[in-house]
Amino acid sequence: MARRGQRSRLWNGVSAASLALIVLVVFLLCRDGGKMPKEPVIEGADRSWSSFDGSVKSRPTVEYRNGTDLIWQIPGSPKAVLFIAHGCNGRAINFWDRSSSCEGCVGLPEERLIVLEALSRGFAVLTVSSMGRCWTMGEERLVVREIIEWWVVKNGLEMLPVFALGASSGGYFVSALATDLKFGGIVLMIAEGVFDQIDVSGDYPPTLFVHMPKDTRRKQKIDEFMVQLKKKGIDVAEVKCMEFPLSPNFLADRIPGLGNDVSAELFKLFQREGFVDENGYMKKDGRATRWKKALDVDNKGLLLDKRLINHVQEELNLAFAFHEMTSLQSEQIFKWFESHLS
Ligand SMILES: *[C@@H]1O[C@H](CO)[C@@H](O)[C@H](O)[C@H]1NC(C)=O
Repeated sequence: MARRGQRSRLWNGVSAASLALIVLVVFLLCRDGGKMPKEPVIEGADRSWSSFDGSVKSRPTVEYRNGTDLIWQIPGSPKAVLFIAHGCNGRAINFWDRSSSCEGCVGLPEERLIVLEALSRGFAVLTVSSMGRCWTMGEERLVVREIIEWWVVKNGLEMLPVFALGASSGGYFVSALATDLKFGGIVLMIAEGVFDQIDVSGDYPPTLFVHMPKDTRRKQKIDEFMVQLKKKGIDVAEVKCMEFPLSPNFLADRIPGLGNDVSAELFKLFQREGFVDENGYMKKDGRATRWKKALDVDNKGLLLDKRLINHVQEELNLAFAFHEMTSLQSEQIFKWFESHLS
């Protein structure tokens, strides 16, 4: 009898504890909506596509070498060189606005703003296309190393520090390239790097991780690698990029050639289709959102110029903040580069 009483008391205790735990979990989930804290930490987000209008212009030189294209521009009195590596499916043409000097250039919203920020701060910018869809870690490393060295000498920039910024596949590539070439610093954007595959010594360059913590698997690796690099005495830092809500004028603010009326119509469409929540946050990654299909039905009057589809796609991915090139943190990125100039 006594034993059964004890057991049932114990049982009551256990169920009370589990109930309390369940209540706590439900409370926590409901409070956050199961999402990242919603604080749009986006310095420079007020910077629209036109903020460089007149001050710096994309007027690059296009060249072919070693079976790939390089597109570059050198501002007056350059103080440093910046090599930029795109992500998978990217090309050098995405970084530059279409102009008479590059008819085939695309000028994706984030890429172009990174380049314009760099030029306005006196960085000579070199972009190269990968041979295939993504960067590869074999011979391509040697080819790009030679391209950078050749280009720097040809343009008389060998006295300047060379920095590198790589996004996604480009980030992995740059993290490896940093063992072949002497960089003054590297930015690995939405990429943890290949630090589990390369030998990193104390003279590895200062490394800034610009990442989107919503991508928790990458975030974990970055946390790990930051500890490892610090232990080896390497200067490391991070910038976290968070999600933010869309608004009626958001797309017009970010994309040259997309008007306020189209921007507002698209925002309405996204609301109507339930692609954004009541606060304007993307519910899913832009790639997983069937907005192009919804647009097809709606786009009979050609609401959106087809040439801007990839531009819109990029901004939707950016707002969701899981995995996309970002220029919103340019201010922090370039201040960090500048703090490593000497
Ligand atoms: C790249 O091209 C240059 C000029 O044609 C050539 O001398 C060099 O060997 C090439 N590099 C590689 C790695 O193929």
